[in-house]
Amino acid sequence: MKLISANWKMNMTPTQTRDYITKFLPLVKDVKDREILLCVPYTSLCVAYDLLKDTHIKLGAQNVYYEPKGAFTGEISVAMLKDLGVSYVIVGHSERRWIFGERDETINRKLLACLDGGLRPILCVGERLEEREAGLTFKVVETQIRLALSSLEDHTDMIDIAYEPVWAIGSGNPATPEDAQIVHKFIKDLLKSINKNYQGKTRVLYGGSVNPQNAGEFMKMPDIDGLLVGTASLDPEAFAKIVNSF
Ligand code: 13P
Repeated sequence: MKLISANWKMNMTPTQTRDYITKFLPLVKDVKDREILLCVPYTSLCVAYDLLKDTHIKLGAQNVYYEPKGAFTGEISVAMLKDLGVSYVIVGHSERRWIFGERDETINRKLLACLDGGLRPILCVGERLEEREAGLTFKVVETQIRLALSSLEDHTDMIDIAYEPVWAIGSGNPATPEDAQIVHKFIKDLLKSINKNYQGKTRVLYGGSVNPQNAGEFMKMPDIDGLLVGTASLDPEAFAKIVNSF
């Protein structure tokens, strides 16, 4: 099933979360042929869970720590998220890589913890502008995926991947659907080549300046299996339009 996910990033208080979900639910109540996911801040998980638990909308987090418990001030474990009804978690978002210095090795450990704990990770990959201009898009994406999946190669069906070119995030300048398609196909071919048990269950989402006007064009591409939406997902009507755009 296609996966359309919101990534609210550091937006929305719990009160705003309640208002958003109350507006959003009626707009998508009849949509059953695609998965809808809200990746909300940790502080909104409780209220979101209460409102979503009897619906078909899934709940996601935006980060997780790999240790199961202990003296890791400020961190949140897989078990804590699972207990709040979370089924997905974004791992390795470019903002975590470039603002918070998250390294490939950390991302790999987080993926391992998610798979161990039964949480489905959405691994984010994507090149920066200077890398794209230097013709390094495929090399960067391949390296990020290989390092993130190191020792997990035979379990790639348990994760989804978001291709989010860094230059397209929050810039109003998305990749063209055709350019994104080429990278998505490359990612699937790579997964096929590294996973002996490959079953094609990884969905490859596109993220970066998706809006209600362009969402349908991305979803026409054969290897674009969903969308990860930042800015436009902050408005329940705009996000509902994206969900309904194909
Ligand atoms: P924008 O939709 O704001 O470009 O953000 C994309 C993103 O980073 C989703 O994870």
